[in-house]
Amino acid sequence: MLSIWSGCVCFLSVLTAVSGELRFASYYGDHMVLHKAPERAVVWGYGTNSTTVVVSLSGLSSRNTYRSTVRDGVWRVTLDPVKAGGPYNVSAVESGGSDGKVMITDVMFGDVWLCGGQSNMVFTVHQIYNSSAEMALASKFPDVRLFHVAQQTSLVELIDLPGIAVRWSVPTPQLLSEYSAVCWLFGRYLYQTLQYPIGLVESCWGGTPVEVWSSSRPLQKCGIPQAPESYVDFMNPYDEDEPIPHQNSVAWNAMIHPLLNMTITGAIWYQGESNGNYNRGKYNCTFPGMIDDWRMAFHQGSGGQTAPDFPFGFVQLCTYDQGNVLDGFPEIRWHQTADFGYVPNKRMKRTFMAVALDLNDAASPWGTIHPRFKQDVAYRLTLGARTIAYGEKGISYQGPFPSSVHVNGTYLILTYDQNVFATPAKDTFEVCCTMEKVQCNSEDSWIWISAPMVPQNTSTVAVSLGGCAAEHVASLRYAWKDWPCGFKACPVYSADRVLPAPPFVLHRWP
Ligand SMILES: *[C@@H]1O[C@H](CO)[C@@H](O)[C@H](O)[C@H]1NC(C)=O
Ligand SMILES: *[C@@H]1O[C@H](CO)[C@@H](O)[C@H](O)[C@H]1NC(C)=O
Ligand SMILES: *[C@@H]1O[C@H](CO)[C@@H](O)[C@H](O)[C@H]1NC(C)=O
Ligand SMILES: *[C@@H]1O[C@H](CO)[C@@H](O)[C@H](O)[C@H]1NC(C)=O
Ligand SMILES: *[C@@H]1O[C@H](CO)[C@@H](O)[C@H](O)[C@H]1NC(C)=O
Ligand SMILES: *[C@@H]1O[C@H](CO)[C@@H](O)[C@H](O)[C@H]1NC(C)=O
Ligand SMILES: *[C@@H]1O[C@H](CO)[C@@H](O)[C@H](O)[C@H]1NC(C)=O
Repeated sequence: MLSIWSGCVCFLSVLTAVSGELRFASYYGDHMVLHKAPERAVVWGYGTNSTTVVVSLSGLSSRNTYRSTVRDGVWRVTLDPVKAGGPYNVSAVESGGSDGKVMITDVMFGDVWLCGGQSNMVFTVHQIYNSSAEMALASKFPDVRLFHVAQQTSLVELIDLPGIAVRWSVPTPQLLSEYSAVCWLFGRYLYQTLQYPIGLVESCWGGTPVEVWSSSRPLQKCGIPQAPESYVDFMNPYDEDEPIPHQNSVAWNAMIHPLLNMTITGAIWYQGESNGNYNRGKYNCTFPGMIDDWRMAFHQGSGGQTAPDFPFGFVQLCTYDQGNVLDGFPEIRWHQTADFGYVPNKRMKRTFMAVALDLNDAASPWGTIHPRFKQDVAYRLTLGARTIAYGEKGISYQGPFPSSVHVNGTYLILTYDQNVFATPAKDTFEVCCTMEKVQCNSEDSWIWISAPMVPQNTSTVAVSLGGCAAEHVASLRYAWKDWPCGFKACPVYSADRVLPAPPFVLHRWP
């Protein structure tokens, strides 16, 4: 790792060099991936005020030079669309000034995905199951390129990154061992279907709540106070060596905002554990709000090149405590979907979700909060990306969700939106039994009773009322526990047994 970190030190010294020196912005470098056609890649850097910078792309016969006048020390060009492939060199020459020239080499055109979140996104390839086999695959995927943003905070929005952990690189086993497993696996699986270059940008930090990654705009809309709050991280035992930023927007300012002017394809996200006991009831506002805000900001920053509704994939929380303490995980899972239970939906368009509540890992040496089955997580995300981001048809990418519930006297008959693989369950389904015509509170555990389920036919299950009179059943919920089932052993899956049904709560009364 020494060479990487010295690269980082070297980079930091470049940033303190005399302003006006011709160079690319920090996250443009050798081996990078720029966005392919039909979008246009934005390239920018620094130079001497009022000089003209001529940017050229080698290896193209059509128009390949672009001019930009340096203003406020910054030049910026938007390339014509370039189809996937490479390699190219991109050079910038200052005319009329120092006549300096800088060049980045081995540049590929392809798709660029941003990977964000907390420790389960930080979780490295070295830490997963079969890590040696995975790291050994590095040389087979030279066109999946990696970039890793250093963990930095700022109280103001920065225009460039204050630090880089790993500059754009061709993957090697050593680099992968320190790189986000979910990000890498997602990129590698996508590459296997797309067969063109993929650029991955890891920008995440263990223990962080969503507020740290959000600008003040969505936080304000959700009624989160502007003032820095003291934030105690309840996952601290697993991140004890790391200071965890706790002030609103500080990672947005330093680790996301600087990237806005780069054209990106989409983002994936694994976060939510640290909101289980922190602004939990607002996560149904803050999370969808952050997605909207990132989309607006990346669209604007790229001069309209990044789609205003770019695809956003996320991992629904896995499990933490086998004793099912009240840690807010069921509520966060629900809020991750803006309380619909599935995505995409009316509130969260062009999103996709990997359900992970059945991928628990009681023996994880990194703590149960950090399950090692990241292959399954990334694979499930890829199914969503292929459908939502790439428009591939006929892929099963969502687990079963009920399309109708009716009472037949002694049972609730649940019909799913697809064929299911169902196994009888004693207590994964629960009904709320009350004579009041109100929505049941999920945290009043005493009003919920187990409702044994038996499969009926290919798309239907029967849930017994657990002794509750039919007219007193106010709500029904599924898998509403931190740790609701065993490894890949939940009661309801898609017919091919790949995708678990997401948890839900349905209320009879508004
Ligand atoms: C470039 O211009 C900006 C504002 O126009 C100024 O703040 C900055 O100091 C100038 N840089 C140099 C190197 O002259
Ligand atoms: C890029 O630059 C390198 C080093 O100068 C050179 O060897 C290579 O041929 C160039 N590639 C292209 C596509 O122009
Ligand atoms: C690990 O590799 C073995 C052998 O290829 C495979 O059977 C198993 O499913 C893999 N485990 C995971 C979690 O990917
Ligand atoms: C979010 O969930 C809370 C309960 O946790 C609820 O009171 C609120 O109405 C929900 N807000 C939205 C926007 O769905
Ligand atoms: C990035 O985009 C934003 C929004 O369009 C703009 O205000 C800012 O000046 C841009 N930064 C650079 C370095 O081009
Ligand atoms: C209700 O459904 C259950 C399960 O399918 C069935 O055994 C029972 O006969 C049904 N009762 C009525 C009244 O239809
Ligand atoms: C499954 O059972 C439900 C409820 O009993 C019934 O309405 C539906 O037609 C059945 N579907 C099939 C495919 O048998």
